[in-house]
Formats: sequence, structure tokens, C-alpha cells
Amino acid sequence: MRLPRSVRTAEVAGAHVLVRADLNVPLEGGRVADDTRIRAALPTLQLLLGRDAAAVVVCSHLGRPKGADPAFAIAPVAERLTELIPDTRIRVLENTRFLEGETKNDPETARRLAEGMDLYVNDAFGSAHRAHASTEAVTRLLPAYAGLLLLSELEHLGRLLGDVERPFVLVAGGAKVEDKLGVLRNLGDRADTVIVGGKMAEELRDGATLPFPVELPSDVVAADAFDEGAESRVAPYDALPAGWLGLDIGPETRERFGALVRGAKTVFWNGPMGVFEWERFAGGTKAVAEAVAAVDGYTVVGGGDSVRAISELGLEDEVSWVSTGGGASLELLEGKELPGVAAIPSA
Ligand code: 3PG
Ligand code: MG
Repeated sequence: MRLPRSVRTAEVAGAHVLVRADLNVPLEGGRVADDTRIRAALPTLQLLLGRDAAAVVVCSHLGRPKGADPAFAIAPVAERLTELIPDTRIRVLENTRFLEGETKNDPETARRLAEGMDLYVNDAFGSAHRAHASTEAVTRLLPAYAGLLLLSELEHLGRLLGDVERPFVLVAGGAKVEDKLGVLRNLGDRADTVIVGGKMAEELRDGATLPFPVELPSDVVAADAFDEGAESRVAPYDALPAGWLGLDIGPETRERFGALVRGAKTVFWNGPMGVFEWERFAGGTKAVAEAVAAVDGYTVVGGGDSVRAISELGLEDEVSWVSTGGGASLELLEGKELPGVAAIPSA
């Protein structure tokens, strides 16, 4: 794999540095619900400050707002970041997705971000699969370097691209189904077993197809409404009561998925098995997390929600690598060069 040049090789002293981080963290009640991605961004910021950067301007997207929307303001994220790294040289820009040209990779938007800056560091591995103004176009305006997190991610995930110990089990779930089904299509033959749960499994039940055999749920925890306190019962995966929703995988499925995962030597897991933010529907995701943690082999967990599940269970130290990328790690596994990485000159 081609490696981009490292921030360690940049002339930082006295420079105004623009850092693209992926601080797209889950929020709850206007507060940061899991700060894994924020903490993962710290080493690069510390390096820049330690090498006497004059200013470190951090930018990130947050969620998928349609234009400027106060519900997606970066403030709670910026607050958490400044708690973790109180230094007056750090400034956090507002949600990049409030800028109209961001997702269009618009040069003028990139120019606004680059104004007054001397260097650009991309540490946003989680967004490296996006060719956006803050990840791609901006590299044409400033000398660009890869941050420490981006580099570690490439190293660790790169191991899954080489010869892996088998069986290699891939577990996929979560939302963003549209994005991920396409990626999964190209990934199936890398893994010996592909397990699909959560929203993604519903899509397959309802007609979407994959060109290889997949392990799907057999039972689900069904609820009569999308509500934490909804009435719920276990139902067959393909025969929910009319109008009911599957909010978690059922006990039988947990057993089977768990056993398949525990038998693996290499695991990549992205995406929860249900609405695990609600305790009553968290059991399936927990079962998968515990199975991944029990594997004696190379295990990688990626994506905001799966990472949150692993960290809430205190299992971070039981997996080989906790990736800050969900979609980005999946696309990397496909063997693609990510646009955000491709845009940085080689080491
Ligand atoms: C993620 O959470 O997967 C990344 O932050 C990318 O977000 P996006 O899918 O909205 O581009
Ligand atoms: Mg995500």
C-alpha cells in the first residue's frame, strides 16, 4: 500500500496549520456520547503544538445536516476537545458540512478553508473515503501531510489486505445501508464468512442481494414502535407482526453469530446489530462485541457505533485495533485507494 508522507516530516514551527480531523461523534441531548474519535485526534494535535505551531485550526464534519442546522453545531465537540487539550493556539471551525461546497469538493470552499494557513494535515481517516473540499480539494492549495492517526489506521487495516489467518469473518450491520451494501459486494470473497445483522440484514430480507452466501439473522427482537419503551417480543426474522420493527437480533441469532465469530482467526466488525443505544435492544450488539473480544487472533472493530459498543463494554483492550473509520475502513478493505489519502504526496 502506498503511504502518504507523515506530519512528522513537516516544518511546523511558526506555521498556521489546518487539520482535518474526523470528529463526527455520536451526540445525545446535545452532548458528546462517545469521544473515541476526539481522543484519537489528540496525538497529531499534541505533535503540532509540541513543535511550536503558531496556530492549529481544526475542522471536521458532524452528522449529515442539510445546510447550516443548529442541531449539528460543532460546539459540544469543540468543548470536549478543548477540555482534553486546553491550548489557546487551537481553534475549531464550525461543521464543514454547513459549507455548501464541502461535499461537492468545491475549490472555492477549499480556498476559504486554506486562507491564512501554511500547512494542511489530514488526520480524518474516518472521512478519507470522501472527496470533499476539506479532505481533497484543499490539498491542491497547501502542502499536505498525513496525521498520525491516519497513518496508524492505514498500517493496522493494511494487515487485513495481506495474507490473513483464516477463518476470516466479516461482520456488518448498522445504518448507512446504501453506502455499505455496495462495498460489501466487493468484499465478500476476501472473507470466509460474512455475517450481516441490523438494518443491513433487513435490506437483504426485503430484496437486496449479495453475490455470495451470507449469514443472516433467524430471529429478531421486534418492537411495536421505534421507541425505547415499545412493547417487544422475539419473532422470526422473516415473520414480524404487521407494522412491527426489528430493533435487535434475537437470542438464537446471537448464539449462532457469536459461535461463528469465536471460531475466527481474523475478524473485521463494522456496525451494530440493533438500536444498541437503548439498553433493551443492545443485547445482540453486546453479544457480537463479546465474541470479537474473545477471539485469539487479529481483530479489528471499525465505525462510530461499533466502537462505542466496544468502549461502553470496556473491551477496547481485548481487540487488536479499534478503527475510527466505518465506511472508510470498509472501502480500504475493498482494496481501493481512498481519495483523502491519494491526495497527499507519497512518503
Ligand atoms: C463516519 O462516521 O462514517 C464518517 O465520519 C463519515 O461520515 P459520512 O458517512 O457522513 O461521510
Ligand atoms: Mg459512522
